[in-house]
Amino acid sequence: MSTPPLPDVERLLLGPGPSPVSPRIMRAMAAPVLSHLDPDMLRIMDDLRARLGRVFMAPADGYSLAVSGTGSAGMEMAVANLVREGTHVLVIVSGYFGERLADLCSRYGALVGRLDVPWGRAVDPEMVRRALKQTPADIVAMVHAETSTGVLNPVEAVAQIARENGCLMLVDAVTSLGAHPVDVAGWQLDAVYSCTQKGLGAPSGMAPICFSARAKERAKSRSFYFDLGLLEAYWSGRKYHHTISAPLVYAVREALVAVEEETLEARFARHRRHHMVLAAGLGAMGLELLPPEGERLWTLNAVCVPDGVDEAAVRKYLLQQFNLEIGAGLGPLAGRIWRVGLMGSGSSSQLILLFLSGLERALRAQGFAVSPGTGTAAAGDALSSLTTA
Ligand SMILES: Cc1ncc(COP(=O)(O)O)c(C=O)c1O
Repeated sequence: MSTPPLPDVERLLLGPGPSPVSPRIMRAMAAPVLSHLDPDMLRIMDDLRARLGRVFMAPADGYSLAVSGTGSAGMEMAVANLVREGTHVLVIVSGYFGERLADLCSRYGALVGRLDVPWGRAVDPEMVRRALKQTPADIVAMVHAETSTGVLNPVEAVAQIARENGCLMLVDAVTSLGAHPVDVAGWQLDAVYSCTQKGLGAPSGMAPICFSARAKERAKSRSFYFDLGLLEAYWSGRKYHHTISAPLVYAVREALVAVEEETLEARFARHRRHHMVLAAGLGAMGLELLPPEGERLWTLNAVCVPDGVDEAAVRKYLLQQFNLEIGAGLGPLAGRIWRVGLMGSGSSSQLILLFLSGLERALRAQGFAVSPGTGTAAAGDALSSLTTA
């Protein structure tokens, strides 16, 4: 059997994640490996935790760390520590990852109340108020940035309602952290997790997570690996729990340094601007985004596939002709949308212009009527007006 080669050329990652990893973060991973209890390693981990706290905008008495594992590990850690047999959890389900959250809560013994929202729309906070009035809950759980639909959910407003009803607030910020504001202290959130491979721009493999003091007091985990108490005893108490991956810690720390060098405000503005530039280009080409304006993510653009166009053929064309990856729809949206991610260093005007020209060619190859240069011209105009505004 022949040995499949490692990639030698950068794939242009404009899918739902992972996002491109910049060279400085790749270089950080090449530093010599330290062991998991080496004093130098622990100092780097302290620095990582402090930086995570700032990116999460965590309260002073909150606790942030990066658990080993992908975004799903963050989800499982939040649930494992706060949900036990009989815990009442209201889960807002507005897409594929809300479904996963509801499933995980059930697996940990929760009595799950679902608040289903049509895929492609954000939840109305008043629906949450009504649902809690009808069936009180201990926890409200929701996805901030629903990657399957491109929708941004109003976490701040829902968290206020959760608090008024005495609930803890558990939030999935996998596709928002580092790109959209996630204000754990200001919004008074209790357990918030994310991933490293999207807005933060590192490879996948760790899940940043932040607990409020209130949630930390209540934390009790049946899972050994995700036990907050044991992980705090490792990260802060220097007591062995597991053999953390040094290259991943270096990568995430470097990614957080890059975030702070850019500043969170500038990073949010960049993600917003590029989303608008892409939307202008797509609109000029006669393409529509699934969520209505005002409910759209900056990180993930759910683009409706026009009638008569073969969704998979377009993705294949972009991959083969442009070395560029975009994502397919999940669940009921399979075949109906493309998911175009602009996250981390992938949120760039050059990549948008390249993607739009590739998409235009792919669509024209299928007989879709669009004049050459329409999308890139509109995106270029939007870029000039947004940059000078
Ligand atoms: C909103 C959301 N939650 C959870 C996950 C799971 O993350 P991972 O695939 O890193 O385990 C994803 C992955 O894309 C996601 O988009």
